Amino acid sequence: MGEKPLQIETEARHIAIIMDGNGRWAKKRGLPRSVGHQQGVKALRQLVRNLKNTSLECLTLYAFSSENWKRSEDEVDDLMNMMRKFIKSDLQELVDNDIRLKIIGEWQSLASDIVEMLENALAKTRNGDQTIVVALNYGSQNEIARAAAKAASLGTVTQDSISKHLDTADLPPLDLLIRTSGEVRLSNFLLWQSAYAEMLFVDTLWPDFTPDILNKALKDFDKRERRYGGR
Ligand code: FPP
Repeated sequence: MGEKPLQIETEARHIAIIMDGNGRWAKKRGLPRSVGHQQGVKALRQLVRNLKNTSLECLTLYAFSSENWKRSEDEVDDLMNMMRKFIKSDLQELVDNDIRLKIIGEWQSLASDIVEMLENALAKTRNGDQTIVVALNYGSQNEIARAAAKAASLGTVTQDSISKHLDTADLPPLDLLIRTSGEVRLSNFLLWQSAYAEMLFVDTLWPDFTPDILNKALKDFDKRERRYGGR
């Protein structure tokens, strides 16, 4: 059997998504927030499966911010358990599809069993040709401060030396940042990397987000003219 032809050729190499609206999706249906998050994971899984149909090199997802610890203990536990479950159920599929996993943020301070599972997942997927980046215990200001401190410890602090020490240093530049659920803010996500990224804010709540919506966003992206400050 030959390889399936690419359905979506795009100029975008790297897109990132703030997956917002799980709670509101559940509330609208009179369901617990945890059900919204479970549906959110389903939407995420569909998107990861769609990656192979696109020419994208990298998809970055905001899964747990450093501010999310402020949520109730029950909700934090639910999110952590979903992470454990997702790695167990979906790791082999990532390996089979040549998807490399990368984690950004201070993920090493998560529960030790999760860290272990993630380290195993990183090792198993390291040869993949497309990358899923999951931001875990991530805050952009913290990332920039860590990168600047590292740069300072090695010599001069410049734009370049900070860039080189960001968690995303090995990734292509960010082309497009999408946020779902109608909120129009970055919430401490990829602040440095967004300097010249295109932005797309959609009203769709995350559990209702589909690969079709993403593919349409990629088509629209290809029509935008990017000037990077020039004319
Ligand atoms: C925002 O919805 C969503 C989150 C805080 C979590 C996003 C995470 C996932 C979809 C799955 C992560 C899991 C894995 C397996 C990587 P919200 O709760 O802020 O929604 P609301 O603003 O409507 O309340």
